[in-house]
Amino acid sequence: MKFSKDFIFGVACSSYQTEGAWNEDGKGSSVWDEFCHTSNVVVNGETGDVACDSYHRAKQDVKLLKELGVDAYRFSVSWPRIFPDGEQLNEAGFKFYDELIDLLSENGITPYLTLYHWDTPLALEKNGGWQNRRTAEAFAVYAAAVAKHFDKRVYNYITLNEPQCVVWLGYNQCINAPGRKLEQKEQCVCMHNLLLAHGLSAKAIRDNSTDAVSVGIASTGRLCYPNVPNAQNTEAARKSTFRVTDADWSFTHTWVLDPIFLGHYPQTDSELLNGFAKSIDPKDFEIITAPLDFLGLNIYNGHANDEHGNDLKRGPGFPRTALKWPVCPEVLRFGPQFIAQRYNIPLIITENGQACNDRVFLDGKVHDPERIDFLTRYLAELGKCIADGIDIRGYFHWSFTDNFEWNNGYNERFGMVFTDYETLERIPKDSFYWYQELIKSCKQ
Ligand code: BG6
Repeated sequence: MKFSKDFIFGVACSSYQTEGAWNEDGKGSSVWDEFCHTSNVVVNGETGDVACDSYHRAKQDVKLLKELGVDAYRFSVSWPRIFPDGEQLNEAGFKFYDELIDLLSENGITPYLTLYHWDTPLALEKNGGWQNRRTAEAFAVYAAAVAKHFDKRVYNYITLNEPQCVVWLGYNQCINAPGRKLEQKEQCVCMHNLLLAHGLSAKAIRDNSTDAVSVGIASTGRLCYPNVPNAQNTEAARKSTFRVTDADWSFTHTWVLDPIFLGHYPQTDSELLNGFAKSIDPKDFEIITAPLDFLGLNIYNGHANDEHGNDLKRGPGFPRTALKWPVCPEVLRFGPQFIAQRYNIPLIITENGQACNDRVFLDGKVHDPERIDFLTRYLAELGKCIADGIDIRGYFHWSFTDNFEWNNGYNERFGMVFTDYETLERIPKDSFYWYQELIKSCKQ
């Protein structure tokens, strides 16, 4: 496995999942604070109140990142730290990120700053959240404030993380905050406002950065790959990847990326979706198509397709992660290929990894051979994708430390660093040393 010297190796995390300090330094409540404190959805009633306590451990965490040898660190800024009520700026909210970004730069690690990883200020949700266009405008003000504050210190921005999950899990399935079940038309409105937030914030970042910055979005959704990689099956898997239906429109790349890169919603077989698309003022697409420098893809699994583009049933005992997600490395070869060919933009894998039920062994170490096997297989397929000529600039492993996995609480662990949630001690797992070796060998 060999990647070019300038290939960006990184690890990723997000604010609510790691920071803790949920009510410190003037931070306002987010939809996730409220959801964890009041709903019964999250496993064992767990919350991100303390999480990994990363808010108080920047030094220790950056030391570990340095030891790991990564080029870049992807983290998100908590919107309600900076705008506690969604409208008024709280300067104290920058304190932690100032410290983190300075430490990263002292250690030669490039920050990749995500503006939104799902923690909407609760005050905005009370006014309709993503159902309200005002939320997109408030997001642009927040983006401008962040870009201005970090001018000449942060050069890589991700506007939104997975708008698909915000709508699908948060406004449909009720398993993520804000835990609402809306009609399909109202969900379309939420997605449209997220797209506007993306476009407005991409412009706000550039307008408030004196040097050139690199801007992208992190997308996720259904990806298919051919069961046999011949021309016919590959074409069928491509079509199936971009197909949009009433059942899964919000969990497709197509519904989010066509507006951003092609300037319109996709044609579908759904009367409701086509009707919604027609109702949009064309001026909105001028906002949504704000130019981007890269596209981030969060890829964990996909569907094997036959020659007709039908999903194949998985046989008994098919390999699965602790979250029961199928292990199918081929998705990292074909998924980015299909996306790059449709949207013609450099890609970065902004998330990929496997959940395990890791534990400390009798020797005091955390052995995670399954994760190493997973990464070896997935990165080998990513290597094939690059060899096929696809422009992929980097790979961020999800996640750096074990953290709060949303409605799954703390049960399943994605980290290369084990978090002891009693003591908050960090223990690098075997996969940490495996990744360290991989990075080292590629830089030689
Ligand atoms: C991605 C999210 O969808 O998947 C991450 O961007 C998340 O924040 C990761 O942690 C793992 O998924 P889950 O459902 O276990 O949280």
